Amino acid sequence: KKASLTLDPAFRIGAVDPRVRGSFVEHLGRCVYGGIYEPDHPGADEDGFRADVLDLTRELGVTTVRYPGGNFVSGYQWEDGIGPRAERPHRLDLAWKTLETNEVGVDEFATWCRKAGVEPMMAVNLGTRGVQEAAALVEYCNHPAGTYWSDLRAKYGAKDPHDIRIWCLGNEMDGPWQIAHKTARDYGILANQTAKAMRLVDPNLELVACGSSNRAMPTFGSWEAEVLEHTYDVVDYVSLHSYYRPKDGDFASFLASGVDMDAMIESVIATCDYVKAKTRSKKSVNLSYDEWNVWYHVPGDEREWVTGPALFEDQYSLADAVVVGSLLNSLLRRADRVTMACFAQLVNVIAPMTTVPGGPAYRQSTFHPMRLAFQYGTGATLRVEPTGPQVDTPDFGPVPQLDCTATLDEENGSAAVFAVNRSLTEPLLVEVDVRALKDARAVEHVALSGDDRDAANTAEQPDRVAPRVQDTPVVEDGTLRFELAPMSYNVVRLA
Ligand code: AHR
Repeated sequence: KKASLTLDPAFRIGAVDPRVRGSFVEHLGRCVYGGIYEPDHPGADEDGFRADVLDLTRELGVTTVRYPGGNFVSGYQWEDGIGPRAERPHRLDLAWKTLETNEVGVDEFATWCRKAGVEPMMAVNLGTRGVQEAAALVEYCNHPAGTYWSDLRAKYGAKDPHDIRIWCLGNEMDGPWQIAHKTARDYGILANQTAKAMRLVDPNLELVACGSSNRAMPTFGSWEAEVLEHTYDVVDYVSLHSYYRPKDGDFASFLASGVDMDAMIESVIATCDYVKAKTRSKKSVNLSYDEWNVWYHVPGDEREWVTGPALFEDQYSLADAVVVGSLLNSLLRRADRVTMACFAQLVNVIAPMTTVPGGPAYRQSTFHPMRLAFQYGTGATLRVEPTGPQVDTPDFGPVPQLDCTATLDEENGSAAVFAVNRSLTEPLLVEVDVRALKDARAVEHVALSGDDRDAANTAEQPDRVAPRVQDTPVVEDGTLRFELAPMSYNVVRLA
């Protein structure tokens, strides 16, 4: 079987914003406590941060990290996490039914971000709290000096402002599970008022309104429209969240999860543009896909009030890595409008890296497609218009067997084709017309593939699932040809 596509610099969709390489650190399970922060670990630095997690974060190429939640933020009092550690209160975290010691708060997170070389993205609590507390947090983080909150920050050790630009106005406020969840109208009004107050403190903020928690929410579409009707002038982004897993052993649909992500992206773009038309606005609101991943463990209620329990520590397989690769394709495909994204979460909790308490950290299978897409998906996305065979899926009907996107980086004269074979059994020959890329030659083909779709990495076997270099394809008469193994994620690079 064969699929074809074309690479042509004339068909440019949009520049890839580095902020699509974002991640998420929530006070949940062992993401903070035992993940980024483990002061008793032999490899902890002077601030108690795990050096191996910092190293892996840099290796992965993460640019932006959202914090402190997630569902956690909707009950969070940020003031608990500042000042001398010994005086910080221990609180019940109602979102995850755990004990929050507040050893890590906004100042520690800002320090961690500087060490990791990432930009922080803060969320404010619009569940149990509102305008005043959000404005105070912006003042604490960003005001230079001479006020109550900025002087307190200096007193607690951070003389210079943290200068945080990106702020989420709450989290998943459409979800009944959210502490103090709201109707679209109530949330829209609160988000508008909070945004205005935050911008009065610091006019240079970029603000994200909460979109739907996923495409299956009963209010999906109408939620975005109503929220944006209240907030269009004061926000820059609307958020999208999606998690995928195989249901009832249906791997054909699971491998096609990107079809759902594409549909969510297109629907939210359309809704943003509908509100733009309705409000006669000149600006466009872009998309922040600030939670996405494969997620297996289902939240349950049967928890104790402990700190840093092992929650949602999914062990990811080869199949999961291929799906993650396909989701990355979906994000790159609409680079013109998806200008921020955060895979959820960074470490231990549904994450591409896992730590052993007191021991090593290792890369999960899903680390690899992320690193490859982050490293080589630079420059601009090109419209590639693939044609080829289809595969049948119970959830989505027939879908293209080839899921593909491509980027062209004119700065360094390189291009990359990101190709997923969605068939569980059939290989696929891909022919790429590269005549428009003068004298293009392939420099590398790496693939994540294998016979065992359940193969996974563990602390004992950390490299069982890893990309393998394939034979370098050749370009003949302007056509690049390469083969995709069944159920595989591939990156073919050209110079
Ligand atoms: O990332 C885990 C959780 O998933 C987040 O706290 C929440 O926003 C989403 O439902």
